[in-house]
Amino acid sequence: KPYILIMAGGIGSRFWPYSRRKRPKQFLDILGTGRTLLQMTYDRFAEMADPDQFVVITYRKYLALVKEQLPELNDHQILTEPLRKNTATCIAYATYSIYSKDPDATIIVTPADHLILQEKKFDRTLQKAIEAANDGKLITLGIKPNRPEIGYGYIQYIEQPNTHVYRVKTFIEKPNSKLVKTLIESGDFVWNSGMFIWKARSLINAFEEHMPDLAEVFEEGKEIYGKAGEAEFVSAAYTQMKNISIDYGIMEKSSQVYVILGDFGWSDLGSWSSLYDLRDKDEDNNVVEANAVLYETKNSYIKVKGDKLVVVQGLENYLVNETDNVLLICKLDAEKKFREFVSNAKKKG
Ligand code: GDD
Ligand code: MG
Repeated sequence: KPYILIMAGGIGSRFWPYSRRKRPKQFLDILGTGRTLLQMTYDRFAEMADPDQFVVITYRKYLALVKEQLPELNDHQILTEPLRKNTATCIAYATYSIYSKDPDATIIVTPADHLILQEKKFDRTLQKAIEAANDGKLITLGIKPNRPEIGYGYIQYIEQPNTHVYRVKTFIEKPNSKLVKTLIESGDFVWNSGMFIWKARSLINAFEEHMPDLAEVFEEGKEIYGKAGEAEFVSAAYTQMKNISIDYGIMEKSSQVYVILGDFGWSDLGSWSSLYDLRDKDEDNNVVEANAVLYETKNSYIKVKGDKLVVVQGLENYLVNETDNVLLICKLDAEKKFREFVSNAKKKG
């Protein structure tokens, strides 16, 4: 039975100000379904896995949120990180921890902020992946691209007959926009979904080969995971870690990476425009979550908290998002600006 490792420690800054440091998007009911993205992630696996197969890894300040949103989990199933050191570190900590208890473990790694519409198909793809991971492969799920998206990893694979598990030839994490255009035009690349399936041992082998410093540190903790002293050990370990994602640290480098293509209605709720694409729109293609009256306004996303009347004229391709203490008005596709918005807003208090 595989472990389901949910990564839920990101900040979700491209969803600011709706997503805040205090409550990032994975803890919000972003789609208006009554379940948060974290809960929807749990639900997606709940048929194939028992509650005790889940492990959630998150930043320490979100522990209370995870507990509140997933009461099915026991305390030992929630790992907390003292610092944010990106996904290579978070996956390493969780993997060494799981491996110390179960050296034969298979792990499905999933972000907490994706949407999957066809869960049956998704399940079937996962079953193939679990099987394929048995002999040491590092499996990622590839998605057919439909636009030149700069926020993803791109995968080129070697096509072979009689298999649906393809060896990865090239893995390029977040290529620049010029390269993205070339990759999409070549028709030869698929997106990395950011979901991974592997045996704990296989990934540890990859860490030893490609990130030996990290491997050495987490290996030292093998007697202490799940026991008294774990928090102190992890604090010390994290201060030694680089801030690096699993994509740059392992997936771009390892020769054991394989891809299985998936077609299960996947989307990454990475930004306002990705959410806009998914939501119901009015006759002028606006998404309106507000008590609003719109004039000559098209292709815009208006989301305002509370019931104050919002009157808008003349906006096209805009985002208007007001929360308790921030009002943001910007182009709907201003993704690259958000880092700047957030850091400047912090200075203003
Ligand atoms: N616990 C923990 N700690 N979780 C983290 C951390 C961390 O330091 N950093 C990120 N996460 C969580 C996020 O909350 C998210 O659920 C997941 O890990 C992935 O991180 P993102 O920051 O959203 O990655 P990305 O979207 O830029 O890129 C990844 O996903 C793309 C598809 O959505 C890469 O794998 C790309 O190659 C991929 O295409
Ligand atoms: Mg993401």
